[in-house]
Amino acid sequence: MKQIENKKILITGGAGFIGSHVVRLFVNKYPNDQIFNLDSLTYAGNLENLKDVENAKNYTFLKADINDADEINQLFAIHKFDKVIHLAAESHVDRSIADPLAFVRTNVIGTVNLLNAAKDCWKDDFTDKLFYHVSTDEVYGTLGETGLFTETTSYDPNSPYSASKASSDHFVRAYGETYKLPYMISNCSNNYGPNQFPEKLIPLFIHNIVQEKSLPVYGDGKYTRDWLYVLDHAVAIDLAFHKGKVGETYNIGGFNEWQNIDLIKLLCELMDKKLGRETGSSAKLITYIKDRPGHDKRYAIDATKINKELGWKPSVTFEEGLSKTVDWYLENEVWLNNVTSGKYQEYYNKQYN
Ligand code: NAD
Ligand code: TYD
Repeated sequence: MKQIENKKILITGGAGFIGSHVVRLFVNKYPNDQIFNLDSLTYAGNLENLKDVENAKNYTFLKADINDADEINQLFAIHKFDKVIHLAAESHVDRSIADPLAFVRTNVIGTVNLLNAAKDCWKDDFTDKLFYHVSTDEVYGTLGETGLFTETTSYDPNSPYSASKASSDHFVRAYGETYKLPYMISNCSNNYGPNQFPEKLIPLFIHNIVQEKSLPVYGDGKYTRDWLYVLDHAVAIDLAFHKGKVGETYNIGGFNEWQNIDLIKLLCELMDKKLGRETGSSAKLITYIKDRPGHDKRYAIDATKINKELGWKPSVTFEEGLSKTVDWYLENEVWLNNVTSGKYQEYYNKQYN
């Protein structure tokens, strides 16, 4: 992946969890490209995630909301981005159950606003242009005990979050078919790693274990997810973005399925060791609570296509990735305290009490 041209790459949602890792990778790896991070800084967006690159010559932050079509059109007119990597989204299933419309606005309308802006800006010439859409395996719905999601699995979303992401994927494809907009989509499994907002399972439970608060397990805990270390996702996006085929979908996953309860027990053991606590003390915090409505039983990705065609595979084992993740949260207490102050408490009480 040698640098040959100067491209203006717009990355949306770059102040969030996955976006910040993608921005850092691109800023450091492609010094001749201009990387624009567009983010409205919702509760999930945090510029602290990008302190180390904020002064880089090839990095620009644009505070903007993808729901504001005029603002997005203006930014395309001013900067004339060549390519887009679209990650900005409302991303948490529980919040989508509480407020589905917020997900329709950002994930569906916001995505269409970006597609329109790209189409209008690029309309005369699509050469070397690309709209890369970052999506999720949750659009495929739920699996039984066996089987894997492939790129041709039918969409069957069950939560307002996954329905909004499925809709955005359909719009991206439709713009490809109707207007010939060059696009690519990747659908990834559950990510974990540094900088993830502590509303998602792993960082929430790390935070609660540190604080010796109960660990709220939904239902019987026998739900299965396929976990991927966030840097491996960022590398997969880089690879597909530069080497993938326009108009294709790539499934990205960890080949790493865990039932929630087994993952939680592993995390408890790891944290007992790291915190020098008696073995078994964190597991005592496990509390089974009322299930999430519409809870998908199992997600698992078949990542054979990206592996065979582009040579991608995860670089760390789950045990390594989880250990690095726990270390990061223990070393970044200030980050964790900042994001869990204020509004977070309101969210937490409403969700769990
Ligand atoms: P996140 O919630 O951590 O970050 C989302 C970012 O988008 C935040 O910085 C937020 O400020 C920004 N944003 C939200 N609404 C916006 C708006 N209207 N305008 C501009 N910016 C806005 O999410 P994440 O976990 O990093 O996920 C990023 C993308 O990857 C999402 O599209 C998500 O659907 C997808 N994805 C996530 C996972 C996962 O496990 N987290 C897995 C597969 C795919
Ligand atoms: P989450 O991190 O919210 O990701 P997703 O719902 O997108 O897969 O949840 C991962 C799994 O953990 C999911 O099966 C729900 C479960 N879970 C709990 O049991 N308790 C919790 O407090 C949370 C946030 C999740």
